[in-house]
Amino acid sequence: MHKCFQDIFVSPAEKEPLRYEGVIEDDRWTDGRLLNESGNFSVPVENGIPLFVSPEKDPWADRTNQGNTLARMGLAEDNFIPFHFEGLLEWPERGRYDYWIQGIIAHGGKILELACGPGGGFAPLILDDNPQAFILLCDLGRWLLHKWRLFSESKKRWPHLSFAQFDVTRLPIKSNSLEAVDSFGGISNINGGAIALLESYRILKPDGRLFMVDATPVTGQFEALPMQVQAEIRHNFPAVGKGYEKLITEAGFEIIDFEETNRYTLKHGDSELADIAAKYQIEMQIQFFNLEAKKPL
Ligand SMILES: C[S@@+](CC[C@H](N)C(=O)[O-])C[C@H]1O[C@@H](n2cnc3c(N)ncnc32)[C@H](O)[C@@H]1O
Repeated sequence: MHKCFQDIFVSPAEKEPLRYEGVIEDDRWTDGRLLNESGNFSVPVENGIPLFVSPEKDPWADRTNQGNTLARMGLAEDNFIPFHFEGLLEWPERGRYDYWIQGIIAHGGKILELACGPGGGFAPLILDDNPQAFILLCDLGRWLLHKWRLFSESKKRWPHLSFAQFDVTRLPIKSNSLEAVDSFGGISNINGGAIALLESYRILKPDGRLFMVDATPVTGQFEALPMQVQAEIRHNFPAVGKGYEKLITEAGFEIIDFEETNRYTLKHGDSELADIAAKYQIEMQIQFFNLEAKKPL
């Protein structure tokens, strides 16, 4: 954990400040723990990664599932992150997001990459243009973050890249502490994305920016699902039907830019929604959008 992120952590429920107790090497945390003032709350820090998620709530914890994911993709364990990283750098659509990445870099400061997944969200593209970027990658997956850390160490190019395992609907981060939050298929793919937006608003400094490239199902196709199924999905993903512009404005943000881009037809296995659509034999497309919003001064 780089120094620039060391003073942002709080307990996820009470939001009490946490201090680090443990080994520090070259100004970076390595192994120790984060604890509150009274000492009745603490989480381990392992190889510099604060671990706020128990194995039962970690979707990547099961070794068999890890093996199955790797086997399905035909990848060796050590190639899991490099495969996603290189894939994004060589992505044919990459040029379309250049202005977007430049916007994030130009805004500067500390960036939280929400639910980074194996792809790392937009971090690979940001780091490719600005290796000095201050990025905190977070996910529920401990294994994933350790793989990312090892990959980052092997690259030796990103001195400020840091990692933390937490739930983005319960951010263990102080209010008003970061300059930007970035989501590339993060918010729209998780349960409780609407709460993650409220939490993002809280942790951003005034004038801080939310950068999202996410997607929602195309309305007409979504409405072809049985009513009960629609209701269940809307309950977990309130942006479906309501739209992200409304949700984000309700969270307190001012929208700077909103643009609908391409559509993609979901294939069985792509996501939970893709599998539901396949079950009801509905061709379901998702509409991608770019959104930049700011927390007012
Ligand atoms: C949302 S997608 C990842 C998209 C990602 N931006 C990428 O580029 O690969 C899936 C990831 O979200 C993580 N995730 C799901 N719910 C989460 C939550 N509440 N908090 C943090 N991470 C979450 C999963 O562990 C998984 O790695």
